[in-house]
Amino acid sequence: MEPYALPDTSAAAGLEPIVLAQNEHAYPPSARVRQAISDALGQAQLYSDSDWTELRSAIAEVHDLDPGNIVCGCGSMELMSALMLAYLSPDERILMTEYGYLFMRTLARLVGAQVDSAAEPDYRVDVDNIIGALRPDTKLVFIVNPGNPCGSLLHNDEIRRLRAALPQDVLLLVDEAYAEFVDDGFHSPLFDLAEQGNTVITRTFSKIYGLAGLRVGWGYFPGAIRDQLRKVLNPGSVTSLSQVAARAAMQDQVAVVEARGLIAGQRDYLTSAIGDLGLRVVPSQTNFILVDFETDKRAASAYRFLRAHRLIVRPMAGYGLPACLRITIGKPEQMQLTARTLAEWRRQDNG
Ligand SMILES: Cc1ncc(COP(=O)(O)O)c(C=O)c1O
Repeated sequence: MEPYALPDTSAAAGLEPIVLAQNEHAYPPSARVRQAISDALGQAQLYSDSDWTELRSAIAEVHDLDPGNIVCGCGSMELMSALMLAYLSPDERILMTEYGYLFMRTLARLVGAQVDSAAEPDYRVDVDNIIGALRPDTKLVFIVNPGNPCGSLLHNDEIRRLRAALPQDVLLLVDEAYAEFVDDGFHSPLFDLAEQGNTVITRTFSKIYGLAGLRVGWGYFPGAIRDQLRKVLNPGSVTSLSQVAARAAMQDQVAVVEARGLIAGQRDYLTSAIGDLGLRVVPSQTNFILVDFETDKRAASAYRFLRAHRLIVRPMAGYGLPACLRITIGKPEQMQLTARTLAEWRRQDNG
């Protein structure tokens, strides 16, 4: 099988790259988070808490959840891997959306599952298409909301409609890695669906919480699925330093609101600057935007031009979107440089 495709983040020879290819946070962790890590270093000779007790209680408090149904992992990627291992056998079928998160296709290959896809017209997840693509033997349906790489948001009412239309024995996995970037309209969370027994919601500390390198994800699971999942999870995969950092970050919701505002401001700026160049930007509710260059050739030319100017963005051919590039929202000066460089490319563009 092919390995999960990570981006090449090197710039032209001798240049320090500005990496806008991995949807990482624009800023380093807060002083409060760094202090928590530093305080915990003195206990690093001990194994980490394999029950994530304090981290789960911090998450439960913020989201008003039952801590008993929260499971933490070494990134939400680990939770997805464990879920696929626990839940799927070779030749069973999963259904995802056309541009859904590619890592799920890697996992499906790993467990030998078959993947069906539902079309995403105009870069949007479409519930009726998902329902239409269901097969009698579909075992798991996977959606990302807001989506990666498109950045578009499906209203939670639509996800509830999807859940109601799925057979009871089909598991619905909703990956909400970017949920905290969504404006206030998102606040009809789906966690109650997990309590009904056949829906799993995953979230991460890698995006708005800015802890991608510490690898912490969490999910809200129905009890029976949680029990199966824990059998296949590595009990020590979330280090003690990662747990204290994630807990401190979760307890600082003021920083989350601030980060959401900062990213939204830069996202609006870059969206309109690129729109002014006559390029289409898919409206995003995340910390990245998808830009449509209309042809593969123009996207490749823009990619090379940006790269020659230190700016590393993400090509999208692997997602079946070779005419698009995905750009992570970063600091204001990085966004201004991106806009200026694309404007310069546009002036020279003959594609
Ligand atoms: C949709 C989506 N889900 C999950 C992840 C991975 O998150 P984590 O760092 O928690 O493993 C990413 C990372 O880019 C993502 O885009």
